[in-house]
Amino acid sequence: MKKLFIETLGCAMNVRDSEHMIAELSQKEPYELTETLSEADLIIINTCSVREKPVAKLFSEIGVFNKHKKPNAKIGVAGCTASHLGKEIIKRAPSVDFVIGARNVSKITQVVDKKHAVEIDTDFDESTYAFGEYRTNPFKAMVNISIGCDKSCTFCIVPATRGDEISIPSDLLLQEITKAVATGAKEVMLLGQNVNNYGRRFGSSEEHCDFTQLLQKISNIKGLERIRFTSPHPLHMDDTFIEEFASNPKICKQIHVPLQSGSTEILKAMKRGYTKENFINRCEKIRALCPEATISTDIIVGFPGESDADFEDTMDVLEKVRFEQLFSFKYSPRPHTEAAEFDAQIDNTLSGARLTKLQARHTEILDEIMDAQLGKIHTVYFDELKANGRVSGRTDDGKLVFVEGSEELLGKIVNVKIVKTSRGALDAVLV
Ligand code: 5AD
Ligand code: SF4
Repeated sequence: MKKLFIETLGCAMNVRDSEHMIAELSQKEPYELTETLSEADLIIINTCSVREKPVAKLFSEIGVFNKHKKPNAKIGVAGCTASHLGKEIIKRAPSVDFVIGARNVSKITQVVDKKHAVEIDTDFDESTYAFGEYRTNPFKAMVNISIGCDKSCTFCIVPATRGDEISIPSDLLLQEITKAVATGAKEVMLLGQNVNNYGRRFGSSEEHCDFTQLLQKISNIKGLERIRFTSPHPLHMDDTFIEEFASNPKICKQIHVPLQSGSTEILKAMKRGYTKENFINRCEKIRALCPEATISTDIIVGFPGESDADFEDTMDVLEKVRFEQLFSFKYSPRPHTEAAEFDAQIDNTLSGARLTKLQARHTEILDEIMDAQLGKIHTVYFDELKANGRVSGRTDDGKLVFVEGSEELLGKIVNVKIVKTSRGALDAVLV
């Protein structure tokens, strides 16, 4: 049997794309996954291009992989960097055998044996393609509900790498989720660049279904206990959606609301479509209707033109919303984006200082939140066996929990009591 080594960078969409590639390749001929590069027959790097650093790393990594691989092993570059650099990758690194873009995953079996094949069509519609079945974790199913992105945030390369937004027809989604449930998944994670823009455009059907309606349809699937989704856009968080989020017992009470900046001026320059006040209002609505929900966010510091006062607005939103989780980044200028051409790019040292300040304050908030979990009862879905006789799972609101136990706990939803807290995870006992 041939061996496949696949490295996945970037977001959950990329993780699912890797699963799709594994499934497609295995339908053509059996592959065994390996974590040892030197024994692989096929090496795939599924790349992210959202910031500059991982892209720069790609070429040095290709060099290292080429040195350690078996003589006849092939190297393929997939994902967002493949989309935006295309054949440039082979020019710079001729040891790469093929390049396959983030929107062309279904073509993996066509390119894998073609020397120097490049498939990066960002208009390609694979929204109704029946991918083969492969899931890394049978207890939790990731399901793409849309591909591409119709927004034009001025910092973001994704519309250029994943193309226009197309929703996958809801009947196909229901079939896919029902199948996953039949093979052991009690939880589904719905994926898309803007999940709550679902239904804006379908490739071939005349369907009308928005995200709230989709959530309702999915929650009728028997045997499915938990629904998560990522990422929604604050602009599309209407009251109906928040009410559904709060009242539907199958929807996990964890929501990602990407802020990007707390300054209305900067949000305008980013073309985000909301103000500081709109954003706070949406979070307050979530907290009011669903006090048990956790809210996570993404923040970029050092966007071109960001003044001290703009940054203080971001700090102010952090104080007001008290995000349970924060993903924060220094602005990184990207090709094919408007902001890369803006004057007033911010000095790296200043961005670094702002990032440190933001993260330090968030850490204090997080410590308070996690410390307060001691003694609390949570409902946890156990889905991973860990070393030293431990099993891990997530609370309904997304916190990572460890208990002592064995495989009998896997796939079970159980009440636990928190006995020890830390910043990243909670220790618990069954109750
Ligand atoms: N620079 C820094 N961070 C970025 N992100 C997207 N584009 C950039 C960029 N050019 C961040 C955003 C997004 C997350 C996935 O990555 O916060 O929500
Ligand atoms: Fe990275 Fe964005 Fe592509 Fe995901 S969609 S892999 S975050 S560039």
